[in-house]
Amino acid sequence: MATGINKKYVNSKNSITLNYNGKQSNDEIINKKRKFKFREVENYGDEPNNLLIHGDNLLGLEYLLNTLNLKGKIDLIYIDPPYGTNSIFKTRSDKIAYSDQLIEEEYIEFLRERIILMRELLSDKGSIYVHLDETMAFSIKIIMDEVFGRDNFRNWITRIKSSNKNTTRNRYGNIADYIMYYTKTKQYIWNRAYTDWNEETILKEYPNVEPKTNRRYKKVPIHAPGIRNGETAKEWRGLKPPPGKHWQYLPSKLDEFDAKGEIYWSKNGNPRRKVYLDNSKGIAVQDVWDLKDARHQSHKITGYPTEKNKLILDRIISSSSNEDSIVLDCFAGSGTTLVSAQEHKRKWIGMDSSSESITTIINRFEHGSSAMGDYVLNNKVEQQSFEFDNLNKNNSCFKLIEINK
Ligand SMILES: C[S@@+](CC[C@H](N)C(=O)[O-])C[C@H]1O[C@@H](n2cnc3c(N)ncnc32)[C@H](O)[C@@H]1O
Repeated sequence: MATGINKKYVNSKNSITLNYNGKQSNDEIINKKRKFKFREVENYGDEPNNLLIHGDNLLGLEYLLNTLNLKGKIDLIYIDPPYGTNSIFKTRSDKIAYSDQLIEEEYIEFLRERIILMRELLSDKGSIYVHLDETMAFSIKIIMDEVFGRDNFRNWITRIKSSNKNTTRNRYGNIADYIMYYTKTKQYIWNRAYTDWNEETILKEYPNVEPKTNRRYKKVPIHAPGIRNGETAKEWRGLKPPPGKHWQYLPSKLDEFDAKGEIYWSKNGNPRRKVYLDNSKGIAVQDVWDLKDARHQSHKITGYPTEKNKLILDRIISSSSNEDSIVLDCFAGSGTTLVSAQEHKRKWIGMDSSSESITTIINRFEHGSSAMGDYVLNNKVEQQSFEFDNLNKNNSCFKLIEINK
């Protein structure tokens, strides 16, 4: 019985593409010369080695590529663009922050054009994270595969954005959004992230305690699948590896473990290695992130709509960039990425077309953010009790540039 498509019609790993009206070619997008004017508005801080660009990011990306010559120089891009929801977002003081009214193919081409320019800016060890919800994530996944190659897709991260909702609609509560993670090549910056163990997982994963030392440990096999012919196939302490397996370590190494008391011998003489909790870095982060956005009255926020939980950016920036890296967010909003990059001692470039966003970012760097409850209780934006998001004093350190046609 025939199954699937004849291989001769499947010509490459990237053979699935998204077709729609108004789709430009890659070359057209890369080679287009977009006219723009830019003006240095102000320096914030004595050493402004970061950039905040006010204007359409299409022109901003062109400026980075062709005026600042940053092609291939950016290690990390995070974007949290409009989601194609056909709505208008207001600040807590009821001013229009931005409109999200491009939909369908217009939306896709708007983002694709920018994503293609972002790829030009990424360094060969660079990563890009695209944060969206279910409205357009599936179409943009195909665009990301087209632009970066499916081989460079790393993760589809499900982010739990809020607590359970008692929805009145006849459907399941919607508490997640999504972050697509791609790298430019296979040699990319990667600093594995861990979360701390909690009591429940410790007891489950490391159930044993060594009486003499009180150290918690788990028992793991000392053999691995596969037949070998060398030392690891030989007898150790009178035991052969089980059929079809070999010792994971040379017998001399197993002797060392045993001498240090790191081999557990069961009653019937079965050896296992002790793996200690105090040698563990924590639980490696998986692809479901429970990092909800601020809701509690005591949380600090800027008052800009769709402000994301900074812990998302802390995780992304520490995993996918190093201290000398440049981090770019060209849909900066309230500046969450920029603040996190600054705290992690990265250089950063932020862009946004909304004046409310630019005002919010300047305010956040100058004065920090304030507790959410103040907004609710006093219904005003100017707060006396700003607190910094872990930024040191003298945190203003950027040049503000205005860009337009
Ligand atoms: C979802 S918000 C970003 C929120 C941000 N991640 C935060 O934590 O505050 C999207 C932002 O994209 C900006 N934006 C939309 N279209 C843009 C464009 N063409 N150029 C620059 N910024 C744009 C909007 O003004 C808005 O601030």
